[in-house]
Amino acid sequence: MVSTITIRRPDDWHVHLRDGAMLAAVAPFTARQFARAIVMPNLDPPVTTVTAAQQYRTRILETTADSFQPLMTAYLTDATDPDELERGHSEEVWVAAKLYPAGATTNSASGVTDITRIRPCLERMQRIGMVLCVHGEVTDAAVDIFDREAVFIERILAPLLADFPELKVVFEHVTTRQAVDFVTDGPANLAATITPHHLHLNRNALFAGGLRPHAYCLPVAKREEHRLAVRRAAVGGSAKFFLGTDSAPHPRSAKESACGCAGIFNAPFALESYATVFDEEGALDRFEGFASDHGADFYGLPRNRDTITLDRAALAVPEDVAGLVPFHAGQTLGWRLAG
Ligand code: NCD
Ligand code: ZN
Repeated sequence: MVSTITIRRPDDWHVHLRDGAMLAAVAPFTARQFARAIVMPNLDPPVTTVTAAQQYRTRILETTADSFQPLMTAYLTDATDPDELERGHSEEVWVAAKLYPAGATTNSASGVTDITRIRPCLERMQRIGMVLCVHGEVTDAAVDIFDREAVFIERILAPLLADFPELKVVFEHVTTRQAVDFVTDGPANLAATITPHHLHLNRNALFAGGLRPHAYCLPVAKREEHRLAVRRAAVGGSAKFFLGTDSAPHPRSAKESACGCAGIFNAPFALESYATVFDEEGALDRFEGFASDHGADFYGLPRNRDTITLDRAALAVPEDVAGLVPFHAGQTLGWRLAG
């Protein structure tokens, strides 16, 4: 039995680092494991200008080790100016822009109300090779929440890819068999990120013995058959699937509330969580591709040069990390990040 694995240092292709005191509390956990991270722009107010992104990047760098590189994203709104996107991209501030359908998730109120409003932005992004990151859920209240990702594929994503056949698109945090199949069968310019929690949890986790706010995120966990499809995609070796934690911390009081926020704080033990899955699936040899190679290749960025080591060892996840409840709180994982 393999007792240690050393892989190229991974990157996190989807993370929420927040701002202010929360940023200072959570960013070091990401920087400890990952060389780079795609930082989501859903602050309040959202990161819609090049200047705001530069300033946010500076604040992140003040809280992290020198070796960590935050990769910034633009928050698309109905009013986004394609020239501003192109300027931020050419000045190497923005590597991607994020599409939040308005109202789909946390701090998405300023998001896009109708995909036709951002057609000029998508045309420009396609031309300059700027990646589109997509929160893939419809916001139609008439659609069952567990179906919103699958319906998004039909209503929005498939037409979008037909209209912009060269646009690089990352279908973020996929949770369904439909999304996995769509990405697998899709063109090479379509890829997807997978979170650790969607590999571990199905929707029963939300109701295990009572209402479990710390298992609640968006897209919400689905039925077991979907979790298994997402697992197969992660460990299957396809270059279209890569690591994106979607670590999304909220204060405990905002989670444990009559109207609890969506988001799971998985940053502290993300690699251990993923490694446990790859081990369970007998696919440790494919962990490096998923965690360290596929994302960099898709984004057209160099693969990292240094390595990290994980040891097979019991890791007891604490109930509290920096005043927050981490993913796997109170559980024991089978792997531990060395150093
Ligand atoms: C994210 C957040 O809190 O910012 N929440 C979540 O459940 N994932 C937003 C998002 O990525 O949907
Ligand atoms: Zn997210």
